[in-house]
Amino acid sequence: MKIVHLSDIHIWRYSINPVKLWGKRAVGMAELFTGRAKKFRLERMEDVVERVKSINADHLLITGDLTTTAMRREFEQAREALGPLLGDPDRVSILPGNHDRYTSRSVRTRAFERVFGAFSPGDSFPWLRHLDERTAILALDATRAHLSATGRLPDDQFHQARELLLTTDPRPKRLIVACHYPVAAPEAYQSELRKKRMVNAADVARWLRRVGPHLYCSGHVHAAWAHRPHEVPEQLSLNAGAPLLRDPTGRRPPGFLEIDLTEQSVTVKHHAWTGMDWSIMPMVTDLRLFGSEAGSLVRD
Ligand SMILES: [Fe+2]
Ligand SMILES: [Fe+2]
Repeated sequence: MKIVHLSDIHIWRYSINPVKLWGKRAVGMAELFTGRAKKFRLERMEDVVERVKSINADHLLITGDLTTTAMRREFEQAREALGPLLGDPDRVSILPGNHDRYTSRSVRTRAFERVFGAFSPGDSFPWLRHLDERTAILALDATRAHLSATGRLPDDQFHQARELLLTTDPRPKRLIVACHYPVAAPEAYQSELRKKRMVNAADVARWLRRVGPHLYCSGHVHAAWAHRPHEVPEQLSLNAGAPLLRDPTGRRPPGFLEIDLTEQSVTVKHHAWTGMDWSIMPMVTDLRLFGSEAGSLVRD
């Protein structure tokens, strides 16, 4: 089973419609004018899509922030750009990021779902999708229309996610939890994550400590990592980074992750754009990640 994990594409467009500039979007547009446009290289998109396509993965997982200010035209542009990868909705899972819920209007009108709703098995979160007889994605949505970039997994969704794992029989041997917000980050990114964290991440981590070995696929922090957080020892936390990010420091090469699952093992590679060409950076190989028994799932 080969999975491509992509995130934080951040399609942006200039808008001069003053009605659209009102309210929170004005903050977003100001941010856009001062930095986003320089930060995300849309002209790289076609090459990224071609690279992902060439991998011919069994499944494509996109963990949010397809847009910048959740404008309809940004969603449409993202959909069009990703078009060559979206031919079979059964082989693509897409979750929203906080930028895809940027305004309360975009939440109310279900702007994300209108364009990308076909790429999830249900019309609300959480959902569990089986990729094969032993692999499944559990998707969470902790985004909210909020002035800050912080998120929160709503109580009812949290409850349903716990129930879903308890009641799915047989329980997937290779569990992938997908959420735009990481629950933990490597030390180099912890202060950045703190400012824009999922505010109940500690509660979510406490729950995940008991679900047994799993991959946790996220985005939000624009850096790629494969990390074993001490908060959740049986988790392999994977962050895909941002594929269009301009990276003047060379410390956050833009790209995406290729995840190979074979029996109990997982291998993760980062396809990184160096500015000149693509390079493949091995991130982790764990031969027995899914070898141990699932954690004791108890109701609380
Ligand atoms: Fe982002
Ligand atoms: Fe984000």
